[in-house]
Amino acid sequence: MAPMDIVPLGPGFAAELRGVTIAEIASDGAAYSEVRRAFEEHSVLVFRDQMVDDESQLAFSRSFGPPEVTKVGSQGTGTHFVILSTIGEDGKVVPADHRLALRNRANQLWHTDSSFKKVPALTSVLSARTIPTRGGETEFVSTRVAFERLQAGLRQKLENLFAWHDYAHSRGQIAPDLASPEERAALPPQCWRMVWKNPVNGRGALYLASHAYAIEGMESTAGKELLDKLMEAATAPGTNYVHTWRSGDVVMWDNRATMHRGRPWPAHEARLMVRTTVSATAVDGLETMRPPSQQAAE
Ligand SMILES: [Fe+2]
Repeated sequence: MAPMDIVPLGPGFAAELRGVTIAEIASDGAAYSEVRRAFEEHSVLVFRDQMVDDESQLAFSRSFGPPEVTKVGSQGTGTHFVILSTIGEDGKVVPADHRLALRNRANQLWHTDSSFKKVPALTSVLSARTIPTRGGETEFVSTRVAFERLQAGLRQKLENLFAWHDYAHSRGQIAPDLASPEERAALPPQCWRMVWKNPVNGRGALYLASHAYAIEGMESTAGKELLDKLMEAATAPGTNYVHTWRSGDVVMWDNRATMHRGRPWPAHEARLMVRTTVSATAVDGLETMRPPSQQAAE
């Protein structure tokens, strides 16, 4: 493998990796190790000009851990792929009040993927298959950089607080019944420590999302206020990296240390993105995230 170049992109996080392909990373242990180091350090990695289809994206994703199976109610359910699009079954772009369009709006809220699942995600890998003429960018912030900006006293307090995450909560911000009864039944609320410490470099990151609605042991209003304050601090102006998609782009991010959101694009235009998501495991620090009651029980 030729030497890999790491080109920083954002304020204190995000980098483009040049001189490496997702196929090489999937098949070459040394290439994987180098990319994995960059992933732990930079949190968002961009690969340009890749030959990407479902198979190569899944092989690449598998290097990082077990791929998620797509939940009920999402396009791609039962497979390892999440299809993000507003193209209906007839091949045409759906109207603005269609479920697919509303779900897309929910995707425009700041979040980390899968914090509402029983096993949260280490990383998501996203590839652009159909790109609109303008808009449709993906915007990222580093919740690690955000955590390190907080005062020491608050950082300490947050390390021992646990927040509840619920898919129905984030969807409810767009439309009250956007999460279906089937989804609610499959996705009961989950409780996670509010700081995810990276086991490789020891750096903590706020574990936050639009799915978070309450803090364990804290009165409801006070909990919401703290969550709002942290969301605002984590997404302050000037702290983001905006990825403008080009054909052949593959972007991966660390769901333990970032939040992201989609940006709108002209409603009549098609956009098709394919996501694979890798579950977090013990080596990624998963067990440290569970509340003590659950650690004892399992
Ligand atoms: Fe997402």
